[in-house]
Amino acid sequence: MDILMLIGVFIGSLLLILIISWLIGVIRSKSSQIIKPSRETRGKALIVYDPGFTGGTKTAATYMAEDLKSNGYEVTLAGVRSTEAVDTAGYDLLIVGSPTYGAKPTGQVENYLKNLKPINIITAVYSLAGSEDQDSNAIMAQILEDKNMKVKVSTKFGHTVWGAGDKNKYSQFIARLLS
Ligand SMILES: Cc1cc2nc3c(=O)[nH]c(=O)nc-3n(C[C@H](O)[C@H](O)[C@H](O)COP(=O)(O)O)c2cc1C
Repeated sequence: MDILMLIGVFIGSLLLILIISWLIGVIRSKSSQIIKPSRETRGKALIVYDPGFTGGTKTAATYMAEDLKSNGYEVTLAGVRSTEAVDTAGYDLLIVGSPTYGAKPTGQVENYLKNLKPINIITAVYSLAGSEDQDSNAIMAQILEDKNMKVKVSTKFGHTVWGAGDKNKYSQFIARLLS
């Protein structure tokens, strides 16, 4: 096999992996799940996330949902492309999370926030990022503030390889939101 063929096979495999990852992301971002507290319900929360390539943003959303559940909230955990993400009626809390790609939130999250009808509920945004100085959560918060929605908590969580990292930081995020 000559070198050109080897390079072709390498690039082809890389493209295939990218396409498969993208397709898996699209499928995961259409899914949703409802998590109910074991005791009496104190309120309802909607967490909308883009699962990204490595799943950290969804893991963060899942940790937050566990915390809200133990605080008595019924939580809808909704991928950004799911129908559940769009219907914000009846919720007391809205949290939106995105990975940072190319110094921004994902296009899906930006579109979701831009298309969101202004609602008067407690709102928070978070991002996961590899860089110290790129705060896509600030871009997300700005989109909501531009439509006069108040963002109570806006946080960037540091990047961890293949995961969301320490659970405690997500508990602190929820504690600030509920304070
Ligand atoms: C293709 C790609 C592009 C990225 N671009 C940025 C970036 O511009 N700025 C940044 O801070 N982090 C960047 N990151 C790091 C991700 O934001 C970080 O790994 C995050 O945890 C990914 O979330 P996820 O696990 O939900 O996919 C990038 C990661 C990947 C894979």
